[in-house]
Amino acid sequence: MNTSIEDFIAGIPKAELHLHIEGTFEPELMFKIAKRNNKQIKYNTVEELKKAYSFNNLQEFLDIYYAGANVLITEEDFYDLTWAYLKKVHSQNLVHTEIFFDPQTHTDRGISFDTVIKGIYRALEDGKQKLGVSYKLIMSFLRHLSEESAFETLEQAMPYKDWIAGVGLDSSEVGNPPSKFERVFKKAQEAGFLTVAHAGEEGPAEYIWEAINLLGITRIDHGNRSMDDPELVKKLAENQIPLTLCPLSNLELCVINDLKDHPVVKMMEQGLLVTVNSDDPAYFGGYMNENYLGIAKALNMSKEQITELAKNSFKASLLTEVEKDKRIAEIEAYFQSHKN
Ligand code: ADE
Ligand code: ZN
Repeated sequence: MNTSIEDFIAGIPKAELHLHIEGTFEPELMFKIAKRNNKQIKYNTVEELKKAYSFNNLQEFLDIYYAGANVLITEEDFYDLTWAYLKKVHSQNLVHTEIFFDPQTHTDRGISFDTVIKGIYRALEDGKQKLGVSYKLIMSFLRHLSEESAFETLEQAMPYKDWIAGVGLDSSEVGNPPSKFERVFKKAQEAGFLTVAHAGEEGPAEYIWEAINLLGITRIDHGNRSMDDPELVKKLAENQIPLTLCPLSNLELCVINDLKDHPVVKMMEQGLLVTVNSDDPAYFGGYMNENYLGIAKALNMSKEQITELAKNSFKASLLTEVEKDKRIAEIEAYFQSHKN
């Protein structure tokens, strides 16, 4: 049997570790939900909206992403959003996902924390039962907002501690360093949350050092700019601190000019624990398989390298060691039967 790289990628079991649920809001669903909530969208048609998806940097994307989230009002909306993502990735052989949600995007518009989390949680539980996709939920603080607002959000999350595995940090990076949230993250850790943070997407390597040294992070989201600092690469490699890379996101937000310039292979060669993820797939033109295929083609990657990335997605996950070992064994069996 000769398995093409497309089929190899499509069939390999994998986990996603960097996914904003608000970034999975497909235009068709956005129009449907806007209509039932009597909310206006700035564009008249799905096609017009899609045309606006052309970004020169992170901020241009974030402005459109927050505007899109404005039509989400009810628990059902958050359920439908999450369920649509789970059905899509299930069809791509995703078996585990660790998703971010941004409560402040919604609570700042008067939607209650309870409405948001209950809709997402119910869909995640249904995904586990009906589709066999396991999950962890990560609550992200918006770094362009104040420390005080992050503290308030952490308070709102306390009754749902059992549903939330960790806290993260996202939104406009430059000018909002991890140090701004050191005290919030300390309190979150004391309450039992794991911590992760976006760092080194547009911001400097220094922000990655801060995330490691001040926020106690389990992994770095993006981390592209670590390649600017050999001491940091050494630290990440020696400690096997994972990076959750997002190739199509990097291309669409002009972090790189071409997928051929993506650092994923160089990072693997330097011993970094890197993973491939979709970030905001409805906006960046692809879910997991499209991200894997994009780099595989641009960088002429082998099935061995794709297999390493899929194994890394479990190694870097928040699953237990027993669960990780089981998935890694499945991937190895898949590789052995599809390597030719
Ligand atoms: N929120 C959603 N996607 C993001 C990204 N790529 N960087 C920072 N914040 C985000
Ligand atoms: Zn992200």
